[in-house]
Amino acid sequence: MGFSQQALIQLYRSRAKHYDVTANLYYLIGFREYDYRKMAVNALNLEPGQTVVEVGCGTGLNFSLLQHEVGSTGKIIGIDLTDAMLEQAHQRVRKEGWLNVELVEIDAVAYRFPQKVNGILSTFAMTLIPGYDRTIKQGAEALASGGRFAILDLKRPDNVPNWLFRLGVFITKPFGVSAEIAERRPWEAIENVLTIRLSQSFLAGLLILPLGRLNETLHQMKEKRSDKLKNIAIKIQSSKIKMEW
Ligand SMILES: C[S@@+](CC[C@H](N)C(=O)[O-])C[C@H]1O[C@@H](n2cnc3c(N)ncnc32)[C@H](O)[C@@H]1O
Repeated sequence: MGFSQQALIQLYRSRAKHYDVTANLYYLIGFREYDYRKMAVNALNLEPGQTVVEVGCGTGLNFSLLQHEVGSTGKIIGIDLTDAMLEQAHQRVRKEGWLNVELVEIDAVAYRFPQKVNGILSTFAMTLIPGYDRTIKQGAEALASGGRFAILDLKRPDNVPNWLFRLGVFITKPFGVSAEIAERRPWEAIENVLTIRLSQSFLAGLLILPLGRLNETLHQMKEKRSDKLKNIAIKIQSSKIKMEW
């Protein structure tokens, strides 16, 4: 079973102050967390002056990487469910003197993405969101042309013995991961809504970085198609009228 939302908030409240240190402990088992974050941010292909939303931003561990891409003329919007994690993010922002970061305390499923956002990032958070498919759909629809959506998350590896999978779940349990959560597949939701897909997985599937580049969402394509159909219907109607006349 996954955690209830309230239990997840409580868990992250209790972890918030030491989150950055404890997240880094995974280096001890060879988990090159910073490198993966860098790959995820690079994959967004952001440019100075652009806007990026980070879903489940936590304490803001990705913010310096994002700042490096969008610069002081760009904007970072970090959204998160847990007040205490955001408080740590606020402290980071104050300490660094960043003026272009907006933090929003909200369930990602209820969040309305700003229109024409250039990039959306989520690292180690999307699988924790039970309604992630809705979040991904709404995010994809808000992306500007050419915008990208990158998710870095844990994936149940193919062909690993069950005991190893259970060990992985046990090791990540302090961060709210359960067997049910580890089975979630947000990259499939991305594939359903974005027309161009690039994806990369590391550590034999333990981590996956699915990336959607948006030229046109499937939603926009469908809308265009239904507009075309409407036009055809109107044309047929007008020729009918002509014939009747
Ligand atoms: C493992 S932490 C990852 C934090 C950060 N992205 C990082 O890479 O360090 C997961 C974060 O997701 C947030 N989260 C979980 N469920 C969420 C939801 N439904 N909406 C927004 N944030 C959520 C938690 O509060 C927590 O801060």
